[in-house]
Amino acid sequence: MVAVDAGGLLFKSNALTPELTAQEQAAATGVAEAYRLMRYDAVGITGQDLAAGLPFLQQLAHRTALPWLSADLVQRNTGKPFFPASVIKKIGNLRVGVFALSGPAATAALRPEDQAMVQPWQEVVPGVLGQLKKADLVILLSGLPTAENEALAQRHPEVDLIVRAGDDGASNQPPRQVRNTLLLQTEKQGKSLGVLDIQWNASRQWGEDRATLLTTKRSELDQVEWFLRGHGRKGDPEMLYQNEPAKLKAYRELVAEKQRLEEEIKRLNGELTKGTGRPEPLAKNRFLALYAELPDQPAVQAVVERTTKTMNQLGQELAKRHLEQDKKGISAPGPLVGWQRCAGCHRAEADFWRQSRHAKAYATLRAKNQQFNQTCLPCHVTGPASTAMPESLQAVGCESCHGPGREHSNDPKRPMVKQPPAQSCLGCHTPEHDDNFDFSRDRHRLNCIHVR
Ligand code: HEC
Ligand code: HEC
Ligand code: HEC
Ligand code: HEC
Repeated sequence: MVAVDAGGLLFKSNALTPELTAQEQAAATGVAEAYRLMRYDAVGITGQDLAAGLPFLQQLAHRTALPWLSADLVQRNTGKPFFPASVIKKIGNLRVGVFALSGPAATAALRPEDQAMVQPWQEVVPGVLGQLKKADLVILLSGLPTAENEALAQRHPEVDLIVRAGDDGASNQPPRQVRNTLLLQTEKQGKSLGVLDIQWNASRQWGEDRATLLTTKRSELDQVEWFLRGHGRKGDPEMLYQNEPAKLKAYRELVAEKQRLEEEIKRLNGELTKGTGRPEPLAKNRFLALYAELPDQPAVQAVVERTTKTMNQLGQELAKRHLEQDKKGISAPGPLVGWQRCAGCHRAEADFWRQSRHAKAYATLRAKNQQFNQTCLPCHVTGPASTAMPESLQAVGCESCHGPGREHSNDPKRPMVKQPPAQSCLGCHTPEHDDNFDFSRDRHRLNCIHVR
């Protein structure tokens, strides 16, 4: 088995949040340690892995001995790569070569003092493939956009697999063949594991999975025939559409498509029954969803626990610093008043709200010992989380949805947001944290509404 990740695993974006640098670095260190424990054979580097600077990643690579690769991230004056460009792993008699490209987008994460640049793949790839001449199977971990990966596959059929990193195309995608290269993409944020079972042979040609292809082509044909029946219902379309060139064109394209599919199906049927000719299927793909309920490996779990504890401690120190600034009178009283103040006049809404999970959102963090973790707080408290919070804001309170209420509380004629729109929820109910949020359904579970 070869375990690879195309990169983009350490940070959420190309840059850190100034006040949270220490916490984000602690989280990245935890991720790298967990990857090492999971015995990854190679990991690519994208801009997101460089957010804390090139020296940070170099130190991390040194400390955690995780095999980071990049062939195109090079020193500006010497052209030498900062990280190994490739590795070869032996599995039995098979030599699997892996190399990685960070891609031009990583340039945005580089600083002048790094003296670094990203070299165009066209210049780098021939040399790396030279290093991997002895490999039987070549895998590219790519930070390049899709179109560039396709161009690379066209030019270098020696690359057998391209595993892609990156945010666009966030979902699991079945392998797609370009010339002799399979392009693979797994969902981001570690929500799934892509598993490709490969049967390799000396021909180094991917065969086609004819049985699956045949099923696909048959259902495509069904669809085309269904459309054609629609056209033919009122008579011969060639006559009917005489004066409607657009419709006639569409109809003729369908006819041509039908012929093409019929020929393809005939070929596949023939080859399947004869079982001759080109090689048998070589790659079977599946995706494993990594549900939160799956048990963790104990060593990895220990890393996660240690990391979240460190993050909480760092957050606590930050909160202390804010509190001292508050004492010195640096920050003025904000526009938020907290739910108790609202409860004074909106008794019924407040009684309902107190029963809801929103009211207990901070307690939830406390129970997990994450109440100072600045990466959790924004969605589990009211308002910006970086200030030392009074108790009345330690919940997803009224003002999380209805907006700041100081002016309204002092003078109820000043308006509040009366009907918080979907946007006001979606900042917290993101697909990452709540993957089946539905505003039109879930707003009715908000107890505020039952009052009316
Ligand atoms: C001093 C009493 C008082 C306080 C404190 C108060 N409200 Fe109100 N609120 C009112 C009154 C009275 C109205 C009705 C105003 C009207 O109809 O013009 C109102 C109306 C509202 C409305 C409906 C708005 C509308 O246009 O009908 C919302 C939502 C609301 N308040 C939320 C809050 C929230 C949230 C807080 C705390 C941040 C809060 N209120 C604090 C007295 C108060
Ligand atoms: C500031 C962040 C935030 C905002 C804004 C927010 N939520 Fe939530 N919501 C949460 C959190 C966090 C929880 C889970 C709390 C817990 O269990 O500790 C939650 C829980 C819920 C639940 C489960 C409630 C229950 O009692 O079972 C519903 C439903 C919900 N939210 C709907 C909404 C809707 C609708 C909106 C917008 C009108 C909204 N939320 C706005 C953070 C938020
Ligand atoms: C982007 C907003 C957001 C962030 C950041 C966030 N949460 Fe949440 N969290 C939510 C929402 C929304 C829910 C409610 C989800 C639901 O009802 O399914 C929730 C629910 C929870 C729950 C209750 C889960 C359950 O099903 O009982 C826990 C525990 C929790 N969050 C812990 C954390 C911790 C720890 C962090 C930081 C590492 C964190 N959250 C960061 C939005 C967030
Ligand atoms: C999670 C988001 C959320 C929280 C928290 C929340 N509300 Fe609401 N509130 C709503 C929504 C959504 C409506 C309904 C708007 C509609 O009818 O579409 C509403 C309705 C109301 C109304 C009625 C407004 C009207 O149309 O007359 C009042 C008053 C109100 N909320 C006050 C409060 C108070 C006070 C609190 C805190 C104790 C609170 N809300 C907490 C989302 C929230």
